Amino acid sequence: MLLKWKKSALILSFFAMFNMNQLLAAQQQIIPQQTPFTADEIKIIKNYLFKNITTTDNQFDKHDIKNPIHSIPGAVLASPSNKEGNFSQDYQFHWTRDAALTMDEVVYLYATSTDDEKAKLKPYLMNYVSFERKAQMQQSRKGEQTLGQPKFNIDGTVWEGKWMRPQNDGPALRAIAMVKIAKLFHKEDAQYVQQQILPLITTDLNYVVKEWNKTSFDLWEEVNDREHFFTKMVQRKALLVGANFFNEIGRTKQAEKYNDVANKVTDSLKKHWNENLGYITETINQQYVKGGGLNSAIILGVLHGELQDEEEDDPFALNNYRVMSSIYFIRNAFHGLYKININNPAQPPLLGRYPNDIYDGAKFAYGNPWILTTNALAQYYYSLAKLYVKQGQINISYNTLPFFQQLDNHLADKEEVILATDNPKRFNKIINMLVLEGDKLLQTTKRYSACYSDQSCYHFAEQIDRTTGKQTSAKDLTWGYTSVLTALQARAAIDKNA
Ligand code: NOJ
Ligand code: NOJ
Repeated sequence: MLLKWKKSALILSFFAMFNMNQLLAAQQQIIPQQTPFTADEIKIIKNYLFKNITTTDNQFDKHDIKNPIHSIPGAVLASPSNKEGNFSQDYQFHWTRDAALTMDEVVYLYATSTDDEKAKLKPYLMNYVSFERKAQMQQSRKGEQTLGQPKFNIDGTVWEGKWMRPQNDGPALRAIAMVKIAKLFHKEDAQYVQQQILPLITTDLNYVVKEWNKTSFDLWEEVNDREHFFTKMVQRKALLVGANFFNEIGRTKQAEKYNDVANKVTDSLKKHWNENLGYITETINQQYVKGGGLNSAIILGVLHGELQDEEEDDPFALNNYRVMSSIYFIRNAFHGLYKININNPAQPPLLGRYPNDIYDGAKFAYGNPWILTTNALAQYYYSLAKLYVKQGQINISYNTLPFFQQLDNHLADKEEVILATDNPKRFNKIINMLVLEGDKLLQTTKRYSACYSDQSCYHFAEQIDRTTGKQTSAKDLTWGYTSVLTALQARAAIDKNA
């Protein structure tokens, strides 16, 4: 009897030890295995995203107007929402910006998928190319340039209703996505790339060359100015990836022109850093108008305009003190702004577009946190972690101390350089904190997602009501779903580096 008892105690303690070891291993793991969204949930998110992209099988009719519009393949609806009840906006358009950011993610999905999945995804890429070719060739009314049109009807024609024109980030974002598509297909079908995609890219980049220092509206479609940080960041990126590609295919003269202008854009971007404020401002002259100052557009500009690790000393690199200090101030500005943030002080805050925003999709009463800006902050933390792991070094300077303390009061208290090789424990701790912070943000947006009456869940609208936490404004916003996937993509990239 005793023996038996002893034996089971031994087995028990063996199991306890085993669990303990597992627990320790898990704690030491820099990147927690459990991602904020499970594989099944990611599948659901992807389905919602693709539902908003028209194909021959997935057509969309827009009925609200005198002449109903029937979609052609390749339109990316910003959201299926149109004016209804309280909601005063029509999102049934193909916005060049939203579409390009979404298709950029589809390119990634294509590049990382199996042959079977590739066969399904390829038409999306080709439809996008043909849609944008049609859109680019439209005639706008006198005094307007088609390339500056912020949005198109879902049949690829120009929409001439009253709107904020031009918006010059669009062609740049489209060129970035198109260069990726051209690179994907270059080997297998050079002729297609030559005839269909290169003219598109050239048209967009030449437009950027001509217009980058002219007046345009910002990405939030509100502030008309010559200087927009986000717009310039993506214009520079487009010129550089374009130049790189044209160099590869021997069109060096064209590449040289784009590189030259990109340098000018970098100089111009430097003016956005405000040493006294400690952050980068969205505009320079209209800092107190709408989102002209502190703005989540800075995070998006850094993420989408990032030169990857090619230019380590870029003033707008993810680990540059100007960027990190801006992140600190942006996050701080939203911390005490919304009731749902105030009620959860231990959580990183949900972010809106800019603090005094009043756009709510309905009455213009008060602004709310947005899914895509909050997820962008998550993506920033993941991307920074990836860069640190790659470089094997974390530099804590006077200017970036607040950034680290914002994650955890005790994380840093002095200037120091932490090398992965010399101090792996501390290095890993910081990486782990960054990843956890991103995870918390995604878990938070996920927690606020909505279930519909048909039992389908994880729906994201454009905004989350600042008080009730309910999804609000345009429903099933495509860019919102994109932002979940791009953040998770950044998270997955850390692993590969580690
Ligand atoms: C609609 C735009 O899409 C939104 O960004 C803007 O805030 C409002 N119009 C107000 O101008
Ligand atoms: C309003 C946002 O401000 C703008 O950035 C976006 O392009 C449109 N909605 C469409 O989603």
